[in-house]
Amino acid sequence: MTETQKSWEKRLAGEPDELTINFVESLSTDKRLYKYDIVGSIAHAQMLADQKLITREEFKQIKDGLIQISEEIAAGRFEFNKKYEDIHMAIETTLVERIGEPGKKLHTGRSRNDQVATDIRLWMRDEIEIVQAKITLLQKAFVKLAQKYTEDIMPGYTHLQRAQPVSIASYLLSFVERLERDFIRLKNCKTLLNLSPLGSGAIGGSTLPLDRKSTKEQLGFSDITYNSIDAVGDRDFCAEFIFDCTMIATHLSGLAEDLILYSSNEFGFLSVDDAYCTSSSMMPQKRNLDVAELIRGKTGRVYGSLIAMLTILKAQPSGYNRDLQEDKVHIFAAADTIEASLDMACAIISHSRFDIKNISAGLDKGFLDATALAEYLVGRGIAFRRAHGIVGSLVAECEKQNKRLNELTLDELKQQSEVIEADVYDNLGATKVAEKYVTEGAAGPKQAKRQIEYWTKQLGQR
Ligand code: ARG
Repeated sequence: MTETQKSWEKRLAGEPDELTINFVESLSTDKRLYKYDIVGSIAHAQMLADQKLITREEFKQIKDGLIQISEEIAAGRFEFNKKYEDIHMAIETTLVERIGEPGKKLHTGRSRNDQVATDIRLWMRDEIEIVQAKITLLQKAFVKLAQKYTEDIMPGYTHLQRAQPVSIASYLLSFVERLERDFIRLKNCKTLLNLSPLGSGAIGGSTLPLDRKSTKEQLGFSDITYNSIDAVGDRDFCAEFIFDCTMIATHLSGLAEDLILYSSNEFGFLSVDDAYCTSSSMMPQKRNLDVAELIRGKTGRVYGSLIAMLTILKAQPSGYNRDLQEDKVHIFAAADTIEASLDMACAIISHSRFDIKNISAGLDKGFLDATALAEYLVGRGIAFRRAHGIVGSLVAECEKQNKRLNELTLDELKQQSEVIEADVYDNLGATKVAEKYVTEGAAGPKQAKRQIEYWTKQLGQR
């Protein structure tokens, strides 16, 4: 056997068809796992030496050879040849070519099945930290923007109809909450995946005295997996990771939708720096928020990856199947898309401002104070359902007269309910209502300020 031959070329007759080589290769995708593959191999070799399955000298040669390969890949000097199938074989074959016999001992007690499962977990642990850091940056950008607008009130919408007045800061902080759940979901995902499958072999483990706890320790896993059959086929964490990405994409897509609406002429609430806008090839007046539309559009890719991942896992027979090789396409795509979208969202939020004049000018349209008026009546002993009806009649009256609630005279107000007194006017108008919110977590300026303090402290520790 020549050194560059695959070991299984002894088993199979003749050369594989070119079609087969191209179809089974994953090197073009999984080469980005190289660092993790090398770290995993060094830990495995160290353990083999400690267990006297290889000599110290062989370990040293393996380790030095692997480090050299790693440096070459990092410097772009390594030739990735598809005939090696995947990153594991590319590295191992190159090692054997360079150091000979000791290289052939690296795969002792190991299969690519437990090797790749280990590599993916190591990659994902790091990737989660990168995504979490980007989530934190975006959260900080929201808090910074919120600080400028604690006292400013905007309409809060339900069904995209004006509902209750809210502080602009509270609106912005609503995204910090969503992103916090995304952060925690990823943290949980990392906790669950942080187990070492190394030593599970192809499916049944090994007859050699491998020390699984040693490789687990060296690679920083919190524990080992306890069933080799499950360990080589388990990709639950891949589906979970992509799901976490889909929730981020969902949140960013909702944000994008708001930004697009709020920056339109129809709303005129917000303007985003020109650096993040594009124009039209035909209409000279256009100033489009294409970047937000693309954040919204890219959500499709991430959802697609989740469905693809779940479909790959569905109804596979127990153990390892080559279907699993497709996992990387989707975890990488989801991670790349979400990283780019988080970066873009952070840039937009850091370079946006609200048009307070415009928002304030239209604030008293849409009866944002109607609910607060009903609550005023409750304070004067009226049952809420009755109060709801009274305010409904007052709103109808306002619509007839083309007035706002605080433009009705006391007499007109009293016609619907005797309990109304002159102090009612302290409870009318969007700005006054927002100041009167007392419930914890409400969207008024008082609560927004407290939340800004909380988040500043919380995020400052990250
Ligand atoms: N490239 C493969 C993957 O990503 C590695 C494992 C191949 N194992 C095998 N028995 N053919 O899953």
